[in-house]
Amino acid sequence: MRKIEIIKKKYLDQVFGIEQLSNSTPWSYSSFIDCMNKNYQFYVCTDNKKVIGFFIASFSLLEGHLLNISVAPNRKRQGVGNILLNKIESIAIEYGIKEIFLEVRESNREAIAFYENNGYRKIGLRKNYYKLSEGREDAVIYSKKIKGNLLSLKQIFYILSNIFRFRIR
Ligand SMILES: CC(C)(COP(=O)(O)OP(=O)(O)OC[C@H]1O[C@@H](n2cnc3c(N)ncnc32)[C@H](O)[C@@H]1OP(=O)(O)O)[C@@H](O)C(=O)NCCC(=O)NCCS
Repeated sequence: MRKIEIIKKKYLDQVFGIEQLSNSTPWSYSSFIDCMNKNYQFYVCTDNKKVIGFFIASFSLLEGHLLNISVAPNRKRQGVGNILLNKIESIAIEYGIKEIFLEVRESNREAIAFYENNGYRKIGLRKNYYKLSEGREDAVIYSKKIKGNLLSLKQIFYILSNIFRFRIR
């Protein structure tokens, strides 16, 4: 049964395995550990305790930034990406986030189709943002406005946590 869960240490190896299969310039293992230990939104989708996808997002006061999202290659086109994006958006509403931003390689046609299918709109370009084995590649910036409450309870906690530096989920 598919389930969305907050990342746990025991899932990190599987997340890293998916990252290596999915990203031509994969994140380092230590980046994932950092994201787990810091106040990032880091969730996995599991199917009978096996990780089949994950995402990492950072939220500031009104903006969210989707930093990484991947689905295991053998589980693509089965709606897992949609489940993950829906989760990001539902947490964003809880936190009072008004807009989610992301960057994607301009050659990444599957991810671009995926985001556009989910209501993300192209808002700009970052020139030479990504490394290639030779040279560099532009990033396309996408965003989606999130409709939610004016000021959510989580947002009030978030503001307080930044002031008092305690960790909330
Ligand atoms: C992008 C990614 C997360 C999508 O995950 P997914 O689980 O395959 O996506 P879903 O099955 O939920 O697809 C949802 C919709 O997105 C669109 N879509 C997804 N993959 C697509 C593809 N290869 N070609 C065209 N449309 C695609 C379709 O409209 C699809 O709906 P449909 O299957 O009913 O037609 C996945 O392809 C992936 O992990 N890619 C490698 C990592 C990556 O590039 N991450 C993004 C970095 S910015």
